[in-house]
Amino acid sequence: MTKTIRSQVVLAVVVSLASAVCLAQSGGEATYKAKCQSCHGSAGTPSPGIAKMMGVKPVSDPDIQKLTADQMAAVVKNGKNKMKPVAGLTDQQIKDAVAYYRGLK
Ligand code: HEC
Repeated sequence: MTKTIRSQVVLAVVVSLASAVCLAQSGGEATYKAKCQSCHGSAGTPSPGIAKMMGVKPVSDPDIQKLTADQMAAVVKNGKNKMKPVAGLTDQQIKDAVAYYRGLK
């Protein structure tokens, strides 16, 4: 009997952890889609027109791969060349969007 209860508790913990991870991911994804995708593309590769006009590199570019998550968050906050600072995001939303962007390669 105790064994059954214990395995149910373990299961409940695993399920809630899994859904917390899911939520975190969907948060970053939603922010990315709303605030970044128009320039960076849905899969992290900008459309050829945007890439040429604004100088956006694909996420797979070695220069982008070199950046840390903190450096990317700083770009989102402060802007860089033709990328204006992205307004209206909390630090957490920036972090989540950057994490999502970094996962797209
Ligand atoms: C209006 C278009 C636009 C939007 C929206 C935009 N970016 Fe950018 N982003 C750019 C451009 C242009 C560059 C290239 C800047 C450069 O290196 O000259 C860039 C560069 C970057 C870089 C790499 C910096 C580098 O060294 O090239 C990161 C990381 C980045 N953007 C993340 C984001 C994230 C995350 C969002 C959403 C929160 C976002 N961007 C929204 C246009 C945009």
